[in-house]
Amino acid sequence: MRTRPLKVALLGCGVVGSEVARIMTTHADDLTARIGAPVELAGVAVRRPDRVREGIDPALVTTDATALVKRGDIDVVVEVIGGIEPARTLITTAFEHGASVVSANKALLAQDGAALHAAAEEHGKDLYYEAAVAGAIPLIRPLRESLAGDKINRVMGIVNGTTNFILDKMDSTGAGYQEALDEATALGYAEADPTADVEGFDAAAKAAILAGIAFHTRVRLDDVYREGMTEVTAADFASAKEMGCTIKLLAICERAADGASVTARVHPAMIPLSHPLASVRGAYNAVFVESDAAGQLMFYGPGAGGSPTASAVLGDLVAVCRNRLSDATGPGESAYAALPVSPMGDVVTRYHISLDVADKPGVLAQVATVFAEHGVSIDTVRQQGKDGEASLVVVTHRASDAALTGTVEALRKLDTVRGVASIMRVEGE
Ligand code: HSE
Repeated sequence: MRTRPLKVALLGCGVVGSEVARIMTTHADDLTARIGAPVELAGVAVRRPDRVREGIDPALVTTDATALVKRGDIDVVVEVIGGIEPARTLITTAFEHGASVVSANKALLAQDGAALHAAAEEHGKDLYYEAAVAGAIPLIRPLRESLAGDKINRVMGIVNGTTNFILDKMDSTGAGYQEALDEATALGYAEADPTADVEGFDAAAKAAILAGIAFHTRVRLDDVYREGMTEVTAADFASAKEMGCTIKLLAICERAADGASVTARVHPAMIPLSHPLASVRGAYNAVFVESDAAGQLMFYGPGAGGSPTASAVLGDLVAVCRNRLSDATGPGESAYAALPVSPMGDVVTRYHISLDVADKPGVLAQVATVFAEHGVSIDTVRQQGKDGEASLVVVTHRASDAALTGTVEALRKLDTVRGVASIMRVEGE
């Protein structure tokens, strides 16, 4: 057992950072035994030094994060400040000055993961970021290490707790979107500005990271198709129920059937109640992985919060410290497959389309003809008429998103189609 401690610099001491510091103290003996050397909190960079930070020696607190990562005696920098800058510069500076990095920064990894991995490799250091995707749930290392001998074909997950809380509330109470969002805000599940969550930006960053690791290829945030969930209505949930489904905001990363390309997308979708993801309630996250040899796997747990996210950070910290002691590094970026990321139009799935139409002879035939002309095969049609108007619900067989988009554009041009009330993809069947 080495007695000289490994020195850790903590960048950020908010909800996650303060939990990391707390667990480092309360679990110090176990961490020492597991790593093979003590770990010492050598500095904590914060924006507001005046805030009381229970359990942290005030002498360790600094506002000069740059000086901290440049010290030269730091073994591991833990970055939990989030955002692109100054996090990116601090991480690269940390590598240049001999430290490995543990980060929880999904936005940065989704945007600049390749450059950061290259910087880590250039300096022979580790870059670990288990906490960047789905909080406490072990995903990055299972995909990167445990499944390294398998071939992953699809990763489909609920990777945003705020939106899952809102959708679950709508499902269980019949509430509309705004009412459910208001409750999520009041309970602290949604931020005052919920845009990043409800518009799918947060989930898209996580999808980019997961797709890149799962398919050994580079997938950036810009490659991920994104649709938020603000348009989902109580009527959509009623339709979903009639089909034996619920609605979830899903991040879906897929290898094309021919294996030559991949896609990554985030959007609300209907999934059958029998699918394991349908039972993920409240603010929980879960990721369903399908691979050649293992078959189907599901990873489930809390996807946010100080303590769960700190659990993932601490797991990385132990791994990186062990690597330091054996003068090794863990696996870096694996992008050898270099598969192109196909546009959304190439995605093939099923669709649930709800139309408001005139209730008169020939309308159903007209609508069916438009589907046929675009090569989209209809699975079921359900019609409910009232006072000369009708609601027509069409569920299709599998078709490309491009074909479905063409179909909907043509439907909108029909005089007898008063409006397209909703289009929802149907996944997980
Ligand atoms: N806002 C995110 C969520 C937190 O609701 O899941 C974790 O990224």
